[in-house]
Amino acid sequence: MSANTHSELFGLLDITGADADECARLLATPPDESVLRSMAALQQRLGTFPLESIREDNASETVWIEALLRFAPAVYSHHLERGISPEVSAASLADMGLQLRINRRVHGRFGLDTWGWLTLHMAGNLFRLGRLQFHLVRGPEETAQAGTPAEDQRWVLGVHIPEDGGLSPALVDASLAEARLFFARYFPDKPAAVATCDSWMLDPYLADRLPDSNIASFARRFTLDRCTDAPTDAVYFTFRQRGLQDLDRLPRDTSLQRVVLERIDDGGTWQLGHGHLAL
Ligand SMILES: CC(C)(COP(=O)(O)OP(=O)(O)OC[C@H]1O[C@@H](n2cnc3c(N)ncnc32)[C@H](O)[C@@H]1OP(=O)(O)O)[C@@H](O)C(=O)NCCC(=O)NCCS
Repeated sequence: MSANTHSELFGLLDITGADADECARLLATPPDESVLRSMAALQQRLGTFPLESIREDNASETVWIEALLRFAPAVYSHHLERGISPEVSAASLADMGLQLRINRRVHGRFGLDTWGWLTLHMAGNLFRLGRLQFHLVRGPEETAQAGTPAEDQRWVLGVHIPEDGGLSPALVDASLAEARLFFARYFPDKPAAVATCDSWMLDPYLADRLPDSNIASFARRFTLDRCTDAPTDAVYFTFRQRGLQDLDRLPRDTSLQRVVLERIDDGGTWQLGHGHLAL
């Protein structure tokens, strides 16, 4: 069976080129026990607004890729049943193809080391609206008042930034505006007044060193609640390299590349900034 057989599915997930051939190979034989188990785990979460991705230390990446491929149509139907447009559903699920392409840059081969991240999309509560992705979840427990039952905890939108060209303030404004309308319309019983972001981009060191950048302007929208050590995130998102080995071989062409490496050269540690903004 070729990629053509699955052109509709691969179009939905934006799976292209050699990745489409590899995915077609996975779909050419019936799913085995482990794929069916992974699909059952995805089915259990669909429509339940989970905050965390599925984590399984001994899971095979290929099993999860196949399970995600086979399960995606159920998520698409789930979105459409809620009245969400095919375009928004497809834009949201297209992260699968992007992550497969990124995996090739990181590891030089077919794979999906971010399969856990995709399990969030498959629960049906993560949407790409314009430039940004939004994850509708219950707020973390520390923001809830003591004794508040889980079902009464406030809803928040977790904001994520997919790789897709520049992050101009105008694109971010438009995306936030779209999110306000979208969630009020399709999830009126889950009103979110706050958006949160946990990212290397909110490390105050960046806004300090590159104050005129899009990244700094994005970070300044958020009130920074706290920072935690995340030594490898900035390197991963800037260079698509896992780990801190062979840093001297990485390019220093852009101002961001220089800032990321110079901080490490100076003995510093990159942080994850945790912030929030009022919607
Ligand atoms: C977030 C992102 C879209 C910002 O892109 P942008 O709008 O071009 O960023 P800025 O305008 O703030 O860039 C400032 C400088 O950093 C450079 N830069 C930005 N992102 C870069 C990247 N991923 N790799 C290398 N250089 C980068 C720009 O080229 C510019 O360099 P210059 O000053 O030498 O011209 C981009 O970094 C990206 O796609 N990152 C991957 C996704 C990600 O990190 N998501 C968050 C996960 S928690």
